[in-house]
Amino acid sequence: MSEQKKFKRTLVTTALPYANGPVHIGHLAGVYVPADIYARYLRLKGQEVLLVGGSDEHGVPVTIRARKEGCTVQDVVDRYHNLIKKSFEDFGISFDVYSRTTSETHKKHASDFFKKLNDEGKFIELESEQYYDEEAKEFLTDRNIRGECPRCHAADAYGDQCEKCGSTLSPDELINPYNAVTGNKLVKRSTKHWYLPLDQYQGWLEQWILNEHKEWRSNVYGQCKSWLDTGLKPRAVTRDLNWGIPVPVEGAEGKVLYVWFDAPIGYISNTKELLPDTWETWWKDPETRMLHFIGKDNIVFHCIVFPAMLKAHGEYNLPDNVPSNEFLNLEGDKISTSRNWAVWLHEYLEQIPNKQDVLRYVLTANAPETKDNDFTWKDYQARNNNELVAIYGNFVNRATVLTHKYFEGKVPERHELTEGDKQTLAEFAEVRKQVEALLDVFRFRDAQKEAMNLARIGNKYLADNEPWKLAKTDMSRVETIMNICLQIAANLAIVFEPFLPFSSAKLRKMLAMGDADWNILGSIDILPAGHAIEKPELLFDKIEDDVIEAQMKRLEDIKKANEAENYKPEPVAAEVDFETFEKVDIRVGKVLDCQKVPKADKLLQFKIDDGMGGRTIVSGIAKYYNPEELIGKEVLFIANFAPRKLKGVESQGMILSAVDADGKLVVCGPTATVKPGSKVS
Ligand code: 2FM
Ligand code: ZN
Repeated sequence: MSEQKKFKRTLVTTALPYANGPVHIGHLAGVYVPADIYARYLRLKGQEVLLVGGSDEHGVPVTIRARKEGCTVQDVVDRYHNLIKKSFEDFGISFDVYSRTTSETHKKHASDFFKKLNDEGKFIELESEQYYDEEAKEFLTDRNIRGECPRCHAADAYGDQCEKCGSTLSPDELINPYNAVTGNKLVKRSTKHWYLPLDQYQGWLEQWILNEHKEWRSNVYGQCKSWLDTGLKPRAVTRDLNWGIPVPVEGAEGKVLYVWFDAPIGYISNTKELLPDTWETWWKDPETRMLHFIGKDNIVFHCIVFPAMLKAHGEYNLPDNVPSNEFLNLEGDKISTSRNWAVWLHEYLEQIPNKQDVLRYVLTANAPETKDNDFTWKDYQARNNNELVAIYGNFVNRATVLTHKYFEGKVPERHELTEGDKQTLAEFAEVRKQVEALLDVFRFRDAQKEAMNLARIGNKYLADNEPWKLAKTDMSRVETIMNICLQIAANLAIVFEPFLPFSSAKLRKMLAMGDADWNILGSIDILPAGHAIEKPELLFDKIEDDVIEAQMKRLEDIKKANEAENYKPEPVAAEVDFETFEKVDIRVGKVLDCQKVPKADKLLQFKIDDGMGGRTIVSGIAKYYNPEELIGKEVLFIANFAPRKLKGVESQGMILSAVDADGKLVVCGPTATVKPGSKVS
């Protein structure tokens, strides 16, 4: 029996993305595509399901963005909430509600939640010393504190993490901490906060997760076990910040609910906003199953902190499963909003229009379900051209084109089946079972692979039976073959509906099928004989190299821009006096000739007019210049450098070059024409 049969309805929640930037492929792959596939699948089966989402508009990330952009926090969250919402709509994420944590419903609900716990004595209040900026008169959150990393000594590590060496830090570990925004030095000051005493929930959580939820994905279970093994400690659920939901307690002025306290309550408020009269059925009825789709950095909050909050509250259901994904990398590097290392969804749609399903397909095919995975543009192209076009699209195209060619676009009769037909139909009946078994345990990647197998079965069936050859001799057999092909095509439209909703809609229209219904998946009578299909259209188009090259170039440019931005000149060398400087005789020379040194990849051999009869200099810059480019150029060289032999050629000096941010050498010369041999001082 599949797991969801024990329940009457399923509430699917998706992590609320911070409204501090657009959403990218990592978001889609990690959370929203799998959640959407699952919700669509249940809906298609006729089950009651809600897909709940929204933007996370509190916390430090949005305030940092506002400071960076020089606008108000409200401007930031309005702009990104709308952009994110639109991206999800454009990609077919079928939210029943997509709201925001600045909605009035949410502010009230989160505030009431806190109040109830506070009134019932579920929190502890603790005074602690926190970093304070006396000039700006504000306490600082970890992310807003910067200082020297105690491990790698990078100058600008954050209070929670050093981006250079990757260490997790606490502000107390930073050397010479300062306010990231004002640059002011910080002092310690005492402040009161409300804490959820997670230690009191340790035993209950151990029982609930480690004993009762052994079926959770191993990455999720493992992370929970490791937190529990370390031992839980009280966690502050309030912050000193001027952006957020005010702590609803007298004497708590200037304090707001911690973003990780209010955000998950957003799942409840958003359900309430959608269904003001019946929301409680979705949160309190034990026959409702709740699933949280999240990324791995959210596991502790959804498996430990939020459940403890729900338990403390006492009226709400707990999650039944938390299918969390690992991370998706981009071309081998971690996706990063601050480094612009991402494929932004709104940009993708502008640059490669109408290819939502291609991205959905590739992200599911590479879903980071059990380990981090990589998105590459080459793989994107290959999966489109070799799978969507060559397998799925090709089968549908042949089935529909041949139907028009031989039967004027009408589904032909099916006659007696051969053993081969029966075998194909038996294989095809397996597909539904396999896809369901995989979807029921959240293995979206393998489920999609199985769906693609149906198209493979169709292609093999066509190739084995070659109806185009039989058309001259046995039209009755062609009728049966094409009938079976069209039934397979109709089944493809249904089985791919959760994964590729846009293409399924197109295929359903082509087959004049009406709405998809999972319950008829596997049937070979979806399209009755005589049913007229529409004109064939290509379901997918080939993606050409220039599209991929443009995307790779975009990423290369971003990499270069990042390198340039992060470039820090080398520290200045030890001081020298004038006499020492004068010992180095730098002159201007003109390049008369320049050639590669045979059998030496790196070396160029120069003939220089030095105003003194000429000299040969060998320089290791062959990687950066074509020799011809340098002929006629004026360069600076050290004239009294001791001669030395390089690959058999005597070099009588050294040409001066600057080292660019990316390590490239650039030859230096005067800015106006100067006589060869002129001294540089
Ligand atoms: O990690 C994040 O992007 C958070 N904004 C996720 C919040 S999920 C939930 F609790 F709302
Ligand atoms: Zn470091």
